[in-house]
Amino acid sequence: MTSTTAYIVCEDLFKIYKIADLEVVALRGLDLVVDEGEVVAVVGASGSGKSTLLNILAGYDTPSAGRVSVGQTDLLRMTSKDVETYRRHEVGFVWQQTSRNLFPYLTALENVSLPMMLTNVPSKEREEKARYLLETVGLSDRMDHTPEKLSGGEQQRVAIGVALSNTPPLLLADEPTGELDDATASEVLDLFGKINQEFNTTIMIVSHDPDIAYKVGRLVMIRDGKMSTEVRRKVSYEKISGEAQVDAKLEEFTLVDGAGRVQIPKEYLDQLQIKERARVVVEDGRVTLVPEEEQK
Ligand SMILES: Nc1ncnc2c1ncn2[C@@H]1O[C@H](COP(=O)(O)OP(=O)(O)O)[C@@H](O)[C@H]1O
Ligand SMILES: [Mg+2]
Repeated sequence: MTSTTAYIVCEDLFKIYKIADLEVVALRGLDLVVDEGEVVAVVGASGSGKSTLLNILAGYDTPSAGRVSVGQTDLLRMTSKDVETYRRHEVGFVWQQTSRNLFPYLTALENVSLPMMLTNVPSKEREEKARYLLETVGLSDRMDHTPEKLSGGEQQRVAIGVALSNTPPLLLADEPTGELDDATASEVLDLFGKINQEFNTTIMIVSHDPDIAYKVGRLVMIRDGKMSTEVRRKVSYEKISGEAQVDAKLEEFTLVDGAGRVQIPKEYLDQLQIKERARVVVEDGRVTLVPEEEQK
Protein backbone atom coordinates (compact mmCIF):
# COMPACT_ATOMS: atom_id res chain seq x y z
CA MET A 1 0.00 0.00 0.00
CA THR A 2 1.18 3.49 -0.79
CA SER A 3 0.97 5.91 2.08
CA THR A 4 -1.19 8.96 1.51
CA THR A 5 -1.37 12.31 3.20
CA ALA A 6 -4.57 14.26 3.65
CA TYR A 7 -4.01 17.56 1.90
CA ILE A 8 -7.41 19.23 1.66
CA VAL A 9 -9.61 18.74 4.70
CA CYS A 10 -13.13 20.20 4.86
CA GLU A 11 -15.18 19.39 7.95
CA ASP A 12 -18.78 20.39 8.47
CA LEU A 13 -18.30 23.36 6.21
CA PHE A 14 -21.07 25.93 5.89
CA LYS A 15 -21.39 28.94 3.64
CA ILE A 16 -24.39 31.16 4.02
CA TYR A 17 -24.88 34.15 1.75
CA LYS A 18 -27.05 36.94 3.05
CA ILE A 19 -28.79 39.17 0.56
CA ALA A 20 -30.88 41.79 2.36
CA ASP A 21 -32.83 39.62 4.82
CA LEU A 22 -32.71 36.50 2.69
CA GLU A 23 -30.27 33.72 3.51
CA VAL A 24 -28.95 31.26 0.93
CA VAL A 25 -27.21 28.18 2.31
CA ALA A 26 -24.66 27.35 -0.40
CA LEU A 27 -22.71 24.76 1.63
CA ARG A 28 -24.46 22.82 4.39
CA GLY A 29 -22.08 20.75 6.48
CA LEU A 30 -19.80 19.63 3.68
CA ASP A 31 -17.12 17.04 4.48
CA LEU A 32 -14.30 16.21 2.08
CA VAL A 33 -10.76 14.91 2.37
CA VAL A 34 -8.45 14.97 -0.64
CA ASP A 35 -5.02 13.36 -0.50
CA GLU A 36 -1.84 14.90 -1.78
CA GLY A 37 -1.41 14.26 -5.50
CA GLU A 38 -5.02 13.16 -6.09
CA VAL A 39 -7.10 14.22 -9.10
CA VAL A 40 -10.69 14.67 -7.97
CA ALA A 41 -13.75 15.74 -9.91
CA VAL A 42 -16.60 17.43 -8.08
CA VAL A 43 -19.81 17.03 -10.03
CA GLY A 44 -23.23 18.47 -9.28
CA ALA A 45 -26.17 20.35 -10.72
CA SER A 46 -26.11 24.08 -11.16
CA GLY A 47 -26.50 25.79 -7.79
CA SER A 48 -25.29 22.79 -5.78
CA GLY A 49 -22.36 24.74 -4.29
CA LYS A 50 -19.44 23.73 -6.52
CA SER A 51 -18.11 27.22 -7.19
CA THR A 52 -18.64 28.22 -3.57
CA LEU A 53 -16.43 25.32 -2.45
CA LEU A 54 -13.75 26.12 -5.01
CA ASN A 55 -13.74 29.82 -4.13
CA ILE A 56 -13.24 28.97 -0.47
CA LEU A 57 -10.36 26.60 -1.29
CA ALA A 58 -8.83 29.30 -3.49
CA GLY A 59 -8.95 31.86 -0.67
CA TYR A 60 -11.39 34.08 -2.57
CA ASP A 61 -14.16 33.55 -0.06
CA THR A 62 -14.44 32.54 3.61
CA PRO A 63 -16.81 29.95 5.04
CA SER A 64 -19.50 30.85 7.56
CA ALA A 65 -18.74 27.88 9.85
CA GLY A 66 -16.81 24.64 9.98
CA ARG A 67 -13.18 23.81 9.35
CA VAL A 68 -11.11 23.90 6.19
CA SER A 69 -7.40 23.47 5.68
CA VAL A 70 -5.12 23.04 2.70
CA GLY A 71 -1.68 21.63 3.49
CA GLN A 72 -0.44 23.51 6.54
CA THR A 73 -2.81 26.42 6.01
CA ASP A 74 -5.94 26.83 8.11
CA LEU A 75 -8.13 28.86 5.75
CA LEU A 76 -10.23 30.21 8.62
CA ARG A 77 -7.30 31.76 10.41
CA MET A 78 -5.63 33.78 7.71
CA THR A 79 -4.71 37.45 7.85
CA SER A 80 -5.11 39.34 4.58
CA LYS A 81 -1.36 39.04 4.12
CA ASP A 82 -1.55 35.26 4.57
CA VAL A 83 -4.34 35.14 1.99
CA GLU A 84 -2.16 36.94 -0.53
CA THR A 85 0.76 34.56 0.02
CA TYR A 86 -1.56 31.57 -0.08
CA ARG A 87 -3.08 32.63 -3.41
CA ARG A 88 0.28 33.30 -4.98
CA HIS A 89 2.12 30.17 -3.87
CA GLU A 90 -0.27 27.43 -2.81
CA VAL A 91 -2.99 27.52 -5.42
CA GLY A 92 -3.56 28.00 -9.14
CA PHE A 93 -7.05 28.68 -10.47
CA VAL A 94 -8.67 28.18 -13.88
CA TRP A 95 -12.06 29.78 -14.56
CA GLN A 96 -14.67 28.58 -17.01
CA GLN A 97 -14.71 31.84 -18.93
CA THR A 98 -11.59 31.75 -21.08
CA SER A 99 -11.58 35.56 -21.16
CA ARG A 100 -11.38 35.76 -17.37
CA ASN A 101 -8.12 33.80 -17.22
CA LEU A 102 -5.97 35.89 -19.53
CA PHE A 103 -5.01 39.48 -20.19
CA PRO A 104 -6.14 40.17 -23.77
CA TYR A 105 -3.26 42.49 -24.67
CA LEU A 106 -0.51 40.15 -23.42
CA THR A 107 0.96 37.23 -25.39
CA ALA A 108 0.70 33.68 -24.09
CA LEU A 109 4.29 33.93 -22.86
CA GLU A 110 3.64 37.22 -21.06
CA ASN A 111 0.44 35.90 -19.51
CA VAL A 112 2.25 32.88 -18.06
CA SER A 113 5.16 35.07 -16.87
CA LEU A 114 2.97 37.59 -15.07
CA PRO A 115 2.27 35.69 -11.82
CA MET A 116 6.04 35.14 -11.49
CA MET A 117 6.62 38.91 -11.64
CA LEU A 118 4.35 39.21 -8.62
CA THR A 119 6.50 36.70 -6.74
CA ASN A 120 9.73 38.45 -7.81
CA VAL A 121 11.16 35.66 -9.93
CA PRO A 122 14.14 37.09 -11.92
CA SER A 123 13.27 37.82 -15.57
CA LYS A 124 15.50 35.19 -17.19
CA GLU A 125 14.14 32.45 -14.95
CA ARG A 126 10.59 33.72 -15.59
CA GLU A 127 10.95 33.40 -19.31
CA GLU A 128 12.53 29.94 -19.12
CA LYS A 129 9.78 28.72 -16.83
CA ALA A 130 7.01 30.24 -18.97
CA ARG A 131 8.44 28.61 -22.10
CA TYR A 132 8.70 25.28 -20.35
CA LEU A 133 5.10 25.51 -19.11
CA LEU A 134 3.77 26.47 -22.54
CA GLU A 135 5.62 23.49 -24.03
CA THR A 136 4.10 21.28 -21.34
CA VAL A 137 0.58 22.44 -22.23
CA GLY A 138 1.32 21.84 -25.92
CA LEU A 139 1.68 25.41 -27.15
CA SER A 140 5.35 25.64 -28.18
CA ASP A 141 4.35 27.29 -31.44
CA ARG A 142 1.83 29.74 -30.01
CA MET A 143 3.90 31.55 -27.37
CA ASP A 144 3.81 34.96 -29.01
CA HIS A 145 0.09 34.93 -29.77
CA THR A 146 -2.36 37.10 -27.88
CA PRO A 147 -5.55 35.35 -26.68
CA GLU A 148 -7.68 36.58 -29.59
CA LYS A 149 -5.40 34.69 -31.98
CA LEU A 150 -5.91 31.45 -30.05
CA SER A 151 -8.82 28.98 -30.10
CA GLY A 152 -10.89 28.41 -26.95
CA GLY A 153 -9.02 25.20 -26.18
CA GLU A 154 -5.65 26.91 -26.67
CA GLN A 155 -6.73 29.76 -24.39
CA GLN A 156 -7.60 27.27 -21.66
CA ARG A 157 -4.19 25.64 -22.13
CA VAL A 158 -2.53 29.02 -21.60
CA ALA A 159 -4.80 29.54 -18.58
CA ILE A 160 -3.53 26.27 -17.12
CA GLY A 161 0.02 27.51 -17.78
CA VAL A 162 -0.78 30.73 -15.92
CA ALA A 163 -2.26 28.78 -13.01
CA LEU A 164 0.91 26.66 -12.79
CA SER A 165 3.25 29.61 -13.08
CA ASN A 166 4.42 29.56 -9.48
CA THR A 167 4.30 25.73 -9.31
CA PRO A 168 1.43 25.61 -6.81
CA PRO A 169 0.83 22.26 -5.12
CA LEU A 170 -2.92 22.73 -5.73
CA LEU A 171 -4.73 23.39 -8.99
CA LEU A 172 -8.42 24.27 -8.91
CA ALA A 173 -10.48 24.45 -12.08
CA ASP A 174 -14.09 25.65 -12.16
CA GLU A 175 -15.82 24.08 -15.18
CA PRO A 176 -12.66 24.60 -17.26
CA THR A 177 -14.18 22.93 -20.31
CA GLY A 178 -17.63 24.48 -20.04
CA GLU A 179 -17.15 26.63 -23.13
CA LEU A 180 -15.38 24.00 -25.24
CA ASP A 181 -16.67 21.41 -27.70
CA ASP A 182 -16.49 17.75 -26.61
CA ALA A 183 -13.27 16.80 -28.44
CA THR A 184 -11.38 19.88 -27.23
CA ALA A 185 -12.78 19.42 -23.72
CA SER A 186 -11.47 15.86 -23.68
CA GLU A 187 -7.97 17.04 -24.66
CA VAL A 188 -7.93 19.74 -22.00
CA LEU A 189 -9.00 17.19 -19.38
CA ASP A 190 -6.14 14.92 -20.51
CA LEU A 191 -3.82 17.83 -19.85
CA PHE A 192 -4.80 17.79 -16.17
CA GLY A 193 -3.70 14.15 -16.04
CA LYS A 194 -0.38 15.06 -17.60
CA ILE A 195 0.17 17.88 -15.12
CA ASN A 196 -0.65 15.59 -12.22
CA GLN A 197 1.99 13.17 -13.51
CA GLU A 198 4.59 15.80 -14.19
CA PHE A 199 4.33 17.96 -11.07
CA ASN A 200 2.39 15.74 -8.65
CA THR A 201 -0.10 18.60 -8.41
CA THR A 202 -3.27 17.91 -6.45
CA ILE A 203 -6.10 18.78 -8.82
CA MET A 204 -9.78 19.48 -8.22
CA ILE A 205 -11.93 19.90 -11.29
CA VAL A 206 -15.50 21.08 -10.93
CA SER A 207 -17.91 20.05 -13.63
CA HIS A 208 -21.59 19.50 -14.29
CA ASP A 209 -20.66 16.84 -16.83
CA PRO A 210 -20.66 13.28 -15.38
CA ASP A 211 -18.54 12.16 -18.38
CA ILE A 212 -15.56 13.53 -16.51
CA ALA A 213 -15.73 10.17 -14.67
CA TYR A 214 -13.77 8.72 -17.58
CA LYS A 215 -10.87 11.06 -16.86
CA VAL A 216 -10.39 10.77 -13.11
CA GLY A 217 -10.07 8.08 -10.50
CA ARG A 218 -12.34 9.77 -8.02
CA LEU A 219 -15.57 11.60 -8.58
CA VAL A 220 -17.52 13.16 -5.74
CA MET A 221 -21.13 14.18 -6.27
CA ILE A 222 -22.30 17.32 -4.52
CA ARG A 223 -25.98 17.87 -3.85
CA ASP A 224 -27.48 20.89 -2.08
CA GLY A 225 -24.16 21.95 -0.60
CA LYS A 226 -23.14 18.57 0.74
CA MET A 227 -21.24 15.62 -0.69
CA SER A 228 -23.65 12.79 -1.43
CA THR A 229 -22.00 9.91 -3.27
CA GLU A 230 -18.59 9.02 -4.56
CA VAL A 231 -17.28 6.88 -7.40
CA ARG A 232 -13.76 5.53 -7.19
CA ARG A 233 -11.91 3.68 -9.90
CA LYS A 234 -8.36 2.73 -10.60
CA VAL A 235 -6.82 5.27 -12.92
CA SER A 236 -3.43 5.67 -14.50
CA TYR A 237 -2.34 8.57 -16.64
CA GLU A 238 -0.26 8.16 -19.74
CA LYS A 239 2.97 10.04 -19.08
CA ILE A 240 3.25 11.97 -22.37
CA SER A 241 -0.36 12.74 -23.30
CA GLY A 242 -1.90 12.54 -19.85
CA GLU A 243 -4.63 10.37 -21.30
CA ALA A 244 -6.51 8.57 -18.55
CA GLN A 245 -6.85 4.79 -18.43
CA VAL A 246 -9.80 4.26 -16.15
CA ASP A 247 -10.62 0.83 -14.83
CA ALA A 248 -14.05 -0.14 -16.19
CA LYS A 249 -15.13 -1.36 -12.76
CA LEU A 250 -17.25 1.34 -11.27
CA GLU A 251 -17.80 1.44 -7.55
CA GLU A 252 -20.26 3.94 -6.21
CA PHE A 253 -20.42 4.70 -2.51
CA THR A 254 -22.81 6.76 -0.47
CA LEU A 255 -20.87 9.04 1.83
CA VAL A 256 -21.39 8.98 5.58
CA ASP A 257 -20.46 12.16 7.41
CA GLY A 258 -18.98 12.58 10.88
CA ALA A 259 -22.45 12.82 12.43
CA GLY A 260 -23.62 9.61 10.71
CA ARG A 261 -25.74 11.39 8.10
CA VAL A 262 -26.19 9.82 4.69
CA GLN A 263 -28.12 10.91 1.64
CA ILE A 264 -30.32 8.16 0.22
CA PRO A 265 -30.87 8.60 -3.54
CA LYS A 266 -34.38 9.89 -4.16
CA GLU A 267 -35.23 7.07 -6.57
CA TYR A 268 -34.66 4.50 -3.80
CA LEU A 269 -36.88 6.42 -1.41
CA ASP A 270 -39.59 6.64 -4.06
CA GLN A 271 -39.24 2.95 -4.89
CA LEU A 272 -39.73 1.93 -1.25
CA GLN A 273 -42.19 4.75 -0.55
CA ILE A 274 -40.09 6.04 2.30
CA LYS A 275 -41.21 9.55 3.07
CA GLU A 276 -40.46 11.13 6.41
CA ARG A 277 -39.61 8.15 8.57
CA ALA A 278 -37.99 4.76 8.35
CA ARG A 279 -36.63 2.28 10.83
CA VAL A 280 -32.89 1.65 10.86
CA VAL A 281 -32.11 -1.98 11.59
CA VAL A 282 -28.72 -3.59 12.05
CA GLU A 283 -28.69 -7.24 11.01
CA ASP A 284 -26.13 -9.63 9.55
CA GLY A 285 -23.47 -6.93 9.49
CA ARG A 286 -25.71 -4.59 7.48
CA VAL A 287 -27.65 -1.47 8.20
CA THR A 288 -31.12 -1.72 6.69
CA LEU A 289 -33.66 1.04 6.21
CA VAL A 290 -37.15 -0.34 6.64
CA PRO A 291 -40.22 1.55 5.33
CA GLU A 292 -42.70 2.59 7.99
CA GLU A 293 -45.61 0.38 6.79
CA GLU A 294 -43.56 -2.78 7.13
CA GLN A 295 -43.05 -2.15 10.82
CA LYS A 296 -46.63 -3.04 11.83
N1 LIG B 1 -22.28 35.75 -4.02
C1 LIG B 1 -23.43 35.12 -3.80
N2 LIG B 1 -24.46 35.75 -3.20
C2 LIG B 1 -25.62 35.10 -2.94
N3 LIG B 1 -25.87 33.82 -3.27
C3 LIG B 1 -24.89 33.15 -3.88
C4 LIG B 1 -23.62 33.75 -4.17
N4 LIG B 1 -22.84 32.81 -4.78
C5 LIG B 1 -23.59 31.70 -4.86
N5 LIG B 1 -24.82 31.89 -4.31
C6 LIG B 1 -25.88 30.87 -4.19
O1 LIG B 1 -25.33 29.74 -3.56
C7 LIG B 1 -25.78 28.53 -4.18
C8 LIG B 1 -24.60 27.74 -4.73
O2 LIG B 1 -24.01 28.47 -5.78
P1 LIG B 1 -22.70 28.00 -6.56
O3 LIG B 1 -21.66 27.63 -5.59
O4 LIG B 1 -22.36 29.08 -7.52
O5 LIG B 1 -23.22 26.70 -7.33
P2 LIG B 1 -22.64 25.93 -8.59
O6 LIG B 1 -21.26 26.42 -8.85
O7 LIG B 1 -22.69 24.49 -8.20
O8 LIG B 1 -23.58 26.22 -9.72
C9 LIG B 1 -26.77 28.97 -5.24
O9 LIG B 1 -28.05 28.91 -4.69
C10 LIG B 1 -26.37 30.39 -5.54
O10 LIG B 1 -27.47 31.13 -6.00
MG1 LIG C 1 -20.43 27.32 -10.59
